[in-house]
Amino acid sequence: MNNTSHILLTGDRPTGQLHLGHYVGSLRQRVQLQHQYQQFILIADLQGLTDNGSNPQKISHHILEVMADYLAVGIDPQLTTVCLQSALPALAELTALYMNIVTVARVERNPTVKNEIAQKGFSRALPVGFMAYPISQAADITAFNADLVPVGDDQLPMIEQTNEIVHKMNSLTAEPVLRHCKALLSEVSRLPGIDGGAKMSKSLGNTLTLSASEAEIHHAVSAMFTDPNHLRVADPGQIEGNVVFTYLDAFHPDKALVASMKAHYQRGGLGDRQCKNELEACLQTLLAPIRERRATFIQDKAMLLELLRQGSERAHEVTQRTLHAVKRGLGLPILF
Ligand code: TRP
Repeated sequence: MNNTSHILLTGDRPTGQLHLGHYVGSLRQRVQLQHQYQQFILIADLQGLTDNGSNPQKISHHILEVMADYLAVGIDPQLTTVCLQSALPALAELTALYMNIVTVARVERNPTVKNEIAQKGFSRALPVGFMAYPISQAADITAFNADLVPVGDDQLPMIEQTNEIVHKMNSLTAEPVLRHCKALLSEVSRLPGIDGGAKMSKSLGNTLTLSASEAEIHHAVSAMFTDPNHLRVADPGQIEGNVVFTYLDAFHPDKALVASMKAHYQRGGLGDRQCKNELEACLQTLLAPIRERRATFIQDKAMLLELLRQGSERAHEVTQRTLHAVKRGLGLPILF
C-alpha cells in the first residue's frame, strides 16, 4: 500500500482548550502526518455531549476554541480535513446501525469506558449516550474509511472494539463494506501534569494550555515537581519521576544537551533552578508563536466557522458514501 491509500482519523472532544499534553501526545504528530497522508480530524462535539448532556454550552463554546488551537499549532486546512461530528448525519446513522450488532455485555467490558464510568462516579445515572460512545467512535473511524488512527494507549480498546464491529458487519454483507484499522501510537503518549500527576488533564488543574501567557509558563515551571530529596545543588539527584526532565525529554530540541544535563544532575552539582531555566526557555520559545497565532485566529470566528464548514462538507461526502455502502450491504433501500 502506498502512502496515499492510508487514511488517518483522529478526534478531540471540545471540552476545553487544548494543552501541552495534547501537543506532545498528538498535535505535533498530526502536523507532521498531514504532509504524508490523507488526514481527517474530527471535532467530536457529540461525544463531548455524552458526559455533558446538561451543559451543552461548554461543548458548543469550545468548538471554535479547538479549531483555533489546531490552526495555531500548524494544522493546515488545505492538507487536513477538519470537520464537525454533529454536522455529519452519516455518523449518527452508522452508530444506530452498529448498535444492533454490539451487546451490552461487550460495551460494559470495554476497559476505557469501565474506568471512565468508575472515575466519574456515574453509577445508575450513567447516560445511555456515554455507554454507547465506543460504538459511535467506531462509526467515526469506519465512516472515514480510516485504516490508521493516531491515538494514545488509553484508546486501544476503542480500536479493538471498532475492528470487532468491522468484522461482524462485513460478515453480514455479501462483499466487505468496512475497513479494518490500526492504532498509530505516538512516542510520548502521555505527558505528566506539572504537579507530577500521572496525566495532564484539565479536570485535575495541572495543565498548561496552548494560550498560556509568559507569566503562566514561568509560574508553572517554577512550581514544577522535581526530586524532593535533591536538597543541595551538590547532592546527586533522581531523574525518574522528575517532571522537569520528563518535559525536557518531550520538548527540548537538543537531545545531547538533555543527556549531559541528566548525567550531571545524577552525579550532583546541577541545581533544579538551572534545569528549570533551561526548560522554561524552551517552553517560552515553543509557545510564544502558537499563543500569538491563536490570539489572531480566535478574533475571527467567522473565518474559523467557514473553514470548519468547508471541511465538514468534504467529510459529508466521504461519510455518506460509507453509509450508503453499509445500507446497500444490508439490503436497505437508498431512497435519496
Ligand atoms: N475519544 C477520543 C478522545 O476522547 C475522541 C474521538 C472521537 C476520536 N472520535 C474519534 C479519536 C475517532 C480517534 C478517532 O480523545
